[in-house]
Amino acid sequence: MGAGHDHSHGSSGKLTDIDHVGIAVRDLDATVAWYEQMFGATVAHRERIESDGVDEALIKVADSYIQLLTPYTDTSPLAKYMEKNGEGIHHVGYRVANCDEVLEHVKSEGARVVDEHPRTGSRGTTVAFLHPKTAQGTLIELVEE
Ligand code: CO
Repeated sequence: MGAGHDHSHGSSGKLTDIDHVGIAVRDLDATVAWYEQMFGATVAHRERIESDGVDEALIKVADSYIQLLTPYTDTSPLAKYMEKNGEGIHHVGYRVANCDEVLEHVKSEGARVVDEHPRTGSRGTTVAFLHPKTAQGTLIELVEE
């Protein structure tokens, strides 16, 4: 425990924080309006993530985000996911200090991964996804700020 250092407080092993919860929605603007109406929440960041074929709106909650996601093209993996599963929680982003190191570790421990190597995510972060198949059904994203 680092004395009085907020960012070390509450971390568990390599996981230093919940970076975000990714939620798949059909209508991004309507969902943003809903969060505003229900909770008085405001959008901290919007971005088109071309590598994933999605538009995102980030709502900041303490040091974490709610990541609202909608596909902007039919070829987006999220579009295919939503055809089967509809709207709802899609993935959880865990913050790590070193994405590459954690990715190599989970691979060496037998986890199946979506990304063999870290890549650039939203907000200029470095990210990599673990496959839900070997992660108890949860799509996990490692996020290095
Ligand atoms: Co994400």
